Amino acid sequence: MLILGIDTSCDDTSVAVLKNRNILSNIVSSQIKFHSKYGGIVPEIASRKHIEWIWDATEKALSEAKTDLKDIDLIAVCYGPGLIGSLLVGLCFAKSLSYASGKPLVGVNHIEGHIQAIFLEKSYPEYPFLCLIVSGGHTSLYRVNDFGAYKELGRTRDDAAGEAYDKVAKMLGLGYPGGPVIDALAKEGCNEKFNLPRPYLHGSLDFSFSGLKTAVKVLLKNLGYKEGNVPDEIKKDIAASFQASVVDVLIEKIKWAISSEKLNRVVITGGVAANSELRRRAEMLKDKGINVYLPSKSLCTDNAAMIAITGYNKFLKGEISDLFLNARAYLPL
Ligand code: KG4
Ligand code: ZN
Repeated sequence: MLILGIDTSCDDTSVAVLKNRNILSNIVSSQIKFHSKYGGIVPEIASRKHIEWIWDATEKALSEAKTDLKDIDLIAVCYGPGLIGSLLVGLCFAKSLSYASGKPLVGVNHIEGHIQAIFLEKSYPEYPFLCLIVSGGHTSLYRVNDFGAYKELGRTRDDAAGEAYDKVAKMLGLGYPGGPVIDALAKEGCNEKFNLPRPYLHGSLDFSFSGLKTAVKVLLKNLGYKEGNVPDEIKKDIAASFQASVVDVLIEKIKWAISSEKLNRVVITGGVAANSELRRRAEMLKDKGINVYLPSKSLCTDNAAMIAITGYNKFLKGEISDLFLNARAYLPL
């Protein structure tokens, strides 16, 4: 079965083709250069770029997969959560393709897509497992009992971890997105130079990163630096100290959840799961008898292959959407 997957939930225009669970193509057209000067995503620009690029991304995905639209058996599209204008572009495009071709349409939740991304890899867990989704829009822990059976154990009460990375990067004058830049810079800095707080929220599996962000703001003020104008050496140490705090909290919460849920498998996914320090520390959990599953970096960040595999699994369960499917900015799992 050939599945066409589409994700336009935020700032990446992504189209993929899968043959059952195998990726034939996974095109991700990044809009970053159009947003970076604003220090974050500008929704209006994102929607317009999706409109300009969606057809081109689809042609590229089909040609890389050496296939044609008429050979596609199923169209899977992300319909939320995300930026409403961005989602609408992918959804309207997918509905039009489905209507014109008569091919079935399946709407996919973006968060479920991130969870299912691990099943695109050679090594994937059996159910049940713990899943930490850590991205620009989400930081949540789920107990995943089966395909489609998700129990939320905790979520961020304020900023997502990726959002905190992006905001701290902005304070340091590092541009958008902040995650990859802080990740690289932290390697050159000392993570003990500044003692930033660890928001553990003892007794809860929720997260809170806005206080940590504020702590960086206060630190810069106390050091006498203006936001966006920080010497390189200090930037490195702040990046390393900030990252150490985020990773400490994420790893600790995984341990708590593994223990309280009596699980021994964890999947870490979403854009921040591409972080090298988080990946390094996650690998160390194996010493504690925990089986750790990390999608490759390109499958951690937003991509349409994760939407396609989720759509395929939903289709196999008989879940099909109709043309009344609407985009949802807020869409819990
Ligand atoms: O999953 P994703 O591509 O989009 C959302 O669904 O949000 O995640 C994007 C987020 C951004 O906040 C970005 O700064 C962060 O993931 N990110 C990283 C890294 N690569 C991307 N954060 C830390 N380290 C990275 N290497
Ligand atoms: Zn995402």
